[in-house]
Amino acid sequence: MSIPFATLPKVSLHCHLTGSVLPGTVLELARKHGVPAPDGRGAHDLYDIDSHEDLDEFLRVYDLVGRVMRDADDFRRTTYESLTTLGAEHGVLYREIFVSPPSHPGVAYRTILDGVRAGMREAKADTGIDSRIIMAINREDTPAAAFDLVEQVIAHRCDEVVGIGLDYAEIHGPPGLFHEAFARAGRAGLRRTAHSESGPPGNLAILLDVLGCTRVDHGYHVVDDPDMTARCLDAGIVFTCTPVSSDIGRYSGSGNGKHEKIAAMVEAGLRVTIDSDDPPMFGTDPTNDFRILHEALGYDTEQLLAFTRTAVDGCWLDESDKAALR
Ligand code: HPA
Ligand code: ZN
Repeated sequence: MSIPFATLPKVSLHCHLTGSVLPGTVLELARKHGVPAPDGRGAHDLYDIDSHEDLDEFLRVYDLVGRVMRDADDFRRTTYESLTTLGAEHGVLYREIFVSPPSHPGVAYRTILDGVRAGMREAKADTGIDSRIIMAINREDTPAAAFDLVEQVIAHRCDEVVGIGLDYAEIHGPPGLFHEAFARAGRAGLRRTAHSESGPPGNLAILLDVLGCTRVDHGYHVVDDPDMTARCLDAGIVFTCTPVSSDIGRYSGSGNGKHEKIAAMVEAGLRVTIDSDDPPMFGTDPTNDFRILHEALGYDTEQLLAFTRTAVDGCWLDESDKAALR
């Protein structure tokens, strides 16, 4: 029996706004602002993942895309496209989107926030998709910059921003460096998550013990450590896994298309959700990530829907709003 991957309901907890910008939109925004199209190439070449040597090179492309997003309308438009073309059209009912102010140098926090919120409202009116924002700290910046970002989040507090994240290359920014920013966020009642994909494995303990994370983005090495697996099971930590983006071998994943880590996490009973990370940049979308797991691991409709149920339970909506997704 064939599975209707595109229409299966999905809840998206690991998708970056900058990583969602459609190739044609990158070129149009570059033209609009008189910024040369990133590195002179067409956007399709830009997103040709085979041309990136490693995560650092990928993130420099990501930064180039961030630099074409300059005014509130750019943030409105890109948010709208992420939530509709890369969201509702793939059965996504709800998305908590990572927004990275540090990827848009020279753009005021308020401009970003207002534009993203406008895109969220429009997408909801047109398709029904609901959404919230996770403001992401760039771990390649200083701890002081991270703290300042959290201060901005608090100064411009609004219902749409439900938490903070930590992304960019783990190797260049050990999580413990950001303890003050995370503590400040915790005191303000913001939820906390952080990327941990390449390791080292000890980083997971820092996320839980020092940063106060209740979610981990990727987190595959949890299954390399039985004590950490038991701890995360006990604490109900939610892992936002991204099959296609993490299967790019030289970045972090196995690169063999077998998705063994995700299989082991599911087998261990951990709370796993599935998403696309930076969909056009990794040549994927929410439908494709579900399909890939079915093809690689034989997951059936029931298992795919279980990922969605876990994401509903693990998302950062109020209980009454969660009920609307069930
Ligand atoms: N890895 C780390 N940080 C990121 C990524 C990624 O794939 N995308 C956006 N920020
Ligand atoms: Zn990510």
